[in-house]
Amino acid sequence: MKWTRTQRYLPYSKWPTEYLKKITRQTADSAYRPLYHTAPTSGLLNDPNGFSYFNGKWHLFYQSFPYGPVHGLKSWVHLISDDLVNWKDIGPALLPDTPYDAQGVYSGSAHVIGERLFLMYTGNVRDENWQRHPYQNGAWMDQNNQITKLPRPLFGQPQHTTDHFRDPQLLEKAGRYYVLLGAQNAADKQGKIALFASDDLKNWQDRGYLNFTDQNLGYMIECPNLIWVDHQPVLVFCPQGLDKKLLNYQNIYPNTYLIGKQCNLTDGSFTTDQSLTLLDHGFDVYASQAFNAPDGQAYLVSWLGLPEIAYPTDQENWAHCLSLVKKLTIKNNRLYQQPVAAIKQLRQNQQQLTGKLPATSETVLVKNPGKQYELQLEIPADQKGTLQLFRDSKQQQGFKINFDTTQAAQLVLDRSQAGQQFAQAYGTTRQVDLTAQQPLTLDIFIDNSVCEVFVNGGEFVFSQRVFPLPATTNEITLEAAQEIIYNGRWWQLAN
Ligand code: FRU
Repeated sequence: MKWTRTQRYLPYSKWPTEYLKKITRQTADSAYRPLYHTAPTSGLLNDPNGFSYFNGKWHLFYQSFPYGPVHGLKSWVHLISDDLVNWKDIGPALLPDTPYDAQGVYSGSAHVIGERLFLMYTGNVRDENWQRHPYQNGAWMDQNNQITKLPRPLFGQPQHTTDHFRDPQLLEKAGRYYVLLGAQNAADKQGKIALFASDDLKNWQDRGYLNFTDQNLGYMIECPNLIWVDHQPVLVFCPQGLDKKLLNYQNIYPNTYLIGKQCNLTDGSFTTDQSLTLLDHGFDVYASQAFNAPDGQAYLVSWLGLPEIAYPTDQENWAHCLSLVKKLTIKNNRLYQQPVAAIKQLRQNQQQLTGKLPATSETVLVKNPGKQYELQLEIPADQKGTLQLFRDSKQQQGFKINFDTTQAAQLVLDRSQAGQQFAQAYGTTRQVDLTAQQPLTLDIFIDNSVCEVFVNGGEFVFSQRVFPLPATTNEITLEAAQEIIYNGRWWQLAN
């Protein structure tokens, strides 16, 4: 189906109830729908928003267009959790129903202030010439999860940016409020991170741009986040149009980070001696949102999807899901990401996988692993082989994880024969170089069409969607290029 602008921006009240019911059923029946990851009940999910801890619970929202697998009129849907693993979807939270967000409640953040949670988001407004007017809006959520929007925007677009001015992250430091925003500079159309400050959430000062790089990072920066990880400031953001000479990436747009030496919001400076790094090395991560919990721990969650890319479930009228929540630490000047410990509660029916595989042989590690499982594998130094997931040897199908822990150490993920193909223009493999002759650990989470691979305790993460062909077998196999000694565990996961 070809979506017209009128359809994409049709007010929610104009959609027939029967149509929504139909596509909700279609989504629920999808063989690709993940079970322990958050997926939309219908239509499209994109950025995680408003990640916070409030009133004894974890809160998270997501960007939603409930009427189809396209970027249309957006709203926020609300999720609540006790453990960052089991999320309850309690439905729409912010709808595009005021003059300051009429063409979409876009991304934003949440911050606990007193007894309430303050939500800050971008109101997307288009005039009759379809010219965009972004507003930065606020809303209060009380302890009963009742949300009341402020009657007027907090501030509008400054003169020095174009209409690409969105995704506010509200922070509080030394009694002042600061907001970071994704922006495009008007004069040279470069991507920037804008900074605003306020003492009272009412009167806002434009502090120009965060001074964090001399490089040209492309034409727009989306979804900036500033967090503190192990007492170091870290910027997480999505540059669009970034020159590949500055960072070697393959996805349409990368999600990146910078670890800083210091960050001073009073003068808008963030100093770093590092170069821009990829947050995730997989095929499908964007718009990650991170925040510091009351105990200081930083958590991150990502959209497992990318803008402007068609996905196989578009045919089923739904698209995308969120990643697992990841706990952040810093080791050797790199950001480490690990799934939160509570994920272990989902484990059932452990199988021990230990063995030795002669050169040029293949073994089935798990014959019927099901569609929700965790697989941990330890590979010693000086080995070379291929782990395959979603494997169907008859049909030559499988998602390949090629590992090499010899001198030429690397890890290559190959999606080229893993079911329905999409986004091939951006390549069918993703890889990292590993440290030569070191053991390798993999911790892999599968949830129908979701595959998240945590490497070496979170040193690298590869997150992606995989859409196996219907009615193919689904084995986990291991092939040895040279003799392999392996040790691992498999669990079925259920919530
Ligand atoms: C990132 C993004 C944000 C915007 C939102 C709209 O994926 O484009 O910049 O606020 O999605 O849904």
